[in-house]
Amino acid sequence: MSAGKALAFHSYKGGTGKTTIATNLAAFYAKIGMRVCLLDCDLYAPSLTTYFRKTPESYINNLLAGEAEISDILVDVSSELGLNGKLLLGFSSPRKVDIHEIEIRHDMKWQLAALRRFLAAKKELFSEYKLDYVFFDTSPGIRYWSVNCIAAADFLFLTMRASDMDIEGTKKMIKEVYESLTKFGSKCFVILNKVPGASPIKKFQEKANERVLLEKDIEKSIGIKVTGSIPCFCDVQFNKHEFLSAINQPKHRFSKNLRDIANKINGMNQRFQVDEE
Ligand SMILES: Nc1ncnc2c1ncn2[C@@H]1O[C@H](COP(=O)(O)OP(=O)(O)OP(=O)(O)O)[C@@H](O)[C@H]1O
Ligand SMILES: [Mg+2]
Repeated sequence: MSAGKALAFHSYKGGTGKTTIATNLAAFYAKIGMRVCLLDCDLYAPSLTTYFRKTPESYINNLLAGEAEISDILVDVSSELGLNGKLLLGFSSPRKVDIHEIEIRHDMKWQLAALRRFLAAKKELFSEYKLDYVFFDTSPGIRYWSVNCIAAADFLFLTMRASDMDIEGTKKMIKEVYESLTKFGSKCFVILNKVPGASPIKKFQEKANERVLLEKDIEKSIGIKVTGSIPCFCDVQFNKHEFLSAINQPKHRFSKNLRDIANKINGMNQRFQVDEE
């Protein structure tokens, strides 16, 4: 039985697919019987209440403020989604006043006390709930709570598009933030999202080996291993409410790509555990 791991999803730019990838991977793992918790740590622009269409009684904000325990904020969606394992969700408050407090009103003393509560909650998730994975969906860029999540994670996944802006920004962030954190043992990988190749127009469709070359090119340019890449699918992009396609539309190529990434992460996790023993 493997020890649980915390996975953070972060990016330099917004809209790279962190929430889509984190929600779908978390649900996929729970579907195949694993025990998973997904926390909306994008405290500055939460999205899981809308994504899961839930209005919980308490939020991660209450946990950080010392007003609630982790057990008070978790919502178990395993049976309503027909999952064989467990999927627990921790929501962040979308209320303007709560976002404002996190962003501006609280001073450093409050933020440090909140960080201590956050780390204690993470510990409890593994010790009491016996989870395989805890997911942190974070805010883009270098923000206090994103850096906290990156620091608290065992594996960090940087989602990015293969565009110059993403590449240059990600390189800068690796130099300024990740390098110092990975020294303490967290492992950092790239997930390329919205890559070319899924167009209905023939001349824009993927050619053999093209994606492998793109992944190698990105690895060379930013110096971090690519765990996988997902093409940009128009029907995902323009869907008013993409919802757990990885489990609801298992035959879609998007789902297949996600499953490949999920399997790679599991494989990496097992390999690292063998190395650590
Ligand atoms: N592979 C993909 N193909 C097409 N559309 C995608 C793909 N991945 C994500 N999207 C779409 O891109 C949009 C942004 O995705 P998402 O909200 O997951 O990004 P994010 O990184 O969490 O954004 P933010 O930084 O604002 O939190 C969504 O509409 C989502 O459905
Ligand atoms: Mg997001």
